[in-house]
Amino acid sequence: MSDAQGIQWFPGHMAKTRRKITESLSLVDAVAEIVDSRIPVSSRNPELAGIIAGKPHIVLLNKCDMADINVTKRWIDYYKQNGKMAIAVDCKSGKGVSAFSSAIKSVLAEKLEFYRAKGMVGKPLRIMIVGIPNVGKSSFINRMAHGSKAKVEDRPGVTRGNQWYRIEKDLDLLDTPGVLWPKFEDATVGEHLAFTGAVKDNVIDIETLAVHLCEYLAKNYGKLLTERYKIQDLSQEPNDLLCEIGKKRGMIIRGGSVDTERASTMLLDEFRSGKLGAITLESPE
Ligand code: G4P
Repeated sequence: MSDAQGIQWFPGHMAKTRRKITESLSLVDAVAEIVDSRIPVSSRNPELAGIIAGKPHIVLLNKCDMADINVTKRWIDYYKQNGKMAIAVDCKSGKGVSAFSSAIKSVLAEKLEFYRAKGMVGKPLRIMIVGIPNVGKSSFINRMAHGSKAKVEDRPGVTRGNQWYRIEKDLDLLDTPGVLWPKFEDATVGEHLAFTGAVKDNVIDIETLAVHLCEYLAKNYGKLLTERYKIQDLSQEPNDLLCEIGKKRGMIIRGGSVDTERASTMLLDEFRSGKLGAITLESPE
């Protein structure tokens, strides 16, 4: 679990990471940015695009097992329309990760052609993996390295502490140099990060979070609420919806009222673990 949970954006943190990423950028051929498929906007650091400008770039929509497949497809199209390749991956099961190698080679086709023309066949491509904490970077690297200790030594003359992994004979990964902090640009970003568990619950009041999640789910994934909690009236106020969910689960306290704190924790846990179903909170539109 990430050490960044609950820690808010501080300019000093990001300045250090910006410096480290910039220093290491010259060592890699491309950047693979991992985002959470459920919140592709909020789970990316908004400064990153500027820092890596000019480098070939691929987006990995991770945790796609917990996201709405139709919206993930729309995200892939959206990136394509904007000249970027994106692939959906599930680093927990490994689904989709085998597409990474060919995807990155197609992004770097020109470079590979250049290597071929120069007789440098087999020269490893080097890819920097970036992403905010908890998005699945370690899971991705472990998957790609097949759980083996495929670490490559620090390269001479290179920033010390950089973590390199050889995942194929001609493909090396560099783990994010520094910590790429998420940015709480506005309340929605903070809330979406909290919904998915990317920041600690104590950052935002848990009941407020749960009520807002109820509101979103009733509007966009009402069927899932009906299936899981047997809710019939999706048009009721989100507060009442949370109470009904608690009631359906028998979360009653003395006096007969609903234990909304317990209901909130349960709802958020079930959303975060994917038990509620495949749900996306942000779409390209
Ligand atoms: P990080 O290096 O970017 O900080 O993320 P990390 O790989 O540690 O992953 C953070 C959490 O997200 C882990 O769960 C991990 O199992 C989970 N995860 C990563 N990729 C996926 C995915 O594609 N699908 C799903 N469903 N989960 C994913 P954890 O609760 O911290 O640990 P654990 O459950 O693995 O013990």
